[in-house]
Amino acid sequence: MSNPDAVTRARRYDTIGRGYARFRQPDPRIAAAIDEALGDAASILGVGSGTGSYEPPHRRVVALEPSRTMIDQRPDDAPPVVQGVAEHLPFRDACIDAALAVLTTHHWRDHLAGLRELARVSERQVILTWDPKMFARFWLVADYLPEIAAHEARLATLDAVTDALEVIDVRPIPIPADCADGFCGAYWRRPAIYLDADARQAISAFARCDPTNVARAMRRLDDDLASGRWARRYRRVATIDALDLGYRLVISQGLAPRR
Ligand SMILES: C[S@@+](CC[C@H](N)C(=O)[O-])C[C@H]1O[C@@H](n2cnc3c(N)ncnc32)[C@H](O)[C@@H]1O
Repeated sequence: MSNPDAVTRARRYDTIGRGYARFRQPDPRIAAAIDEALGDAASILGVGSGTGSYEPPHRRVVALEPSRTMIDQRPDDAPPVVQGVAEHLPFRDACIDAALAVLTTHHWRDHLAGLRELARVSERQVILTWDPKMFARFWLVADYLPEIAAHEARLATLDAVTDALEVIDVRPIPIPADCADGFCGAYWRRPAIYLDADARQAISAFARCDPTNVARAMRRLDDDLASGRWARRYRRVATIDALDLGYRLVISQGLAPRR
């Protein structure tokens, strides 16, 4: 991996990826939605595959991941992994049935180059990302840490992905109240978990924020939980089992014509 930008990216997850596997286990309901989206693809390339979450166990998988810290957390029986970046895939044209990219495009140095590479090597692309405008309405962002929304507006998320690719379908992924995968929206009905610094360490949205703002927001959340204010304010949240926070599974078949 000789590209200096790629190395910088890899270093980012070498820091924020420590302890990732402890909090970021695949959620079975999201895994089932991904499996369905992969259709009859037999060979899968997992791009930005991290510690191996969502690599489908009954298909032929090869993973690609830049961060050594993430690679080192892959289970012993995980599929083979190549250290590299989406922008330069070391694979031949059209050699893979489906490329899978879960919560990773927003980290790529050049998302268009990465998406072009996915489309070059695979027939179908399955990408989990989110709509930041919808996510900005999530109570954590809207009422405690709006800085998350300010950063996310600049990331390569849903619009960037759907603009670049020839989209077949965009499927909502409601987040279960007991979601096993601790990404930013996962604890919407378990607010106390956001107070855990180790849980926050596994969520890149917090790493982008000013630590002083995060500390202030967490103090407010702690107070609101202790006083019952949070429970009163978000009474409706306790009555639902899954919530649409804007996470979307994009299925595509190559690049959009103008790309
Ligand atoms: C939030 S993690 C998601 C990991 C995994 N897909 C999952 O769902 O647990 C984002 C991953 O993208 C990787 N990444 C960052 N820049 C990348 C790039 N340019 N190409 C491929 N992967 C990249 C990070 O190293 C990290 O493992």
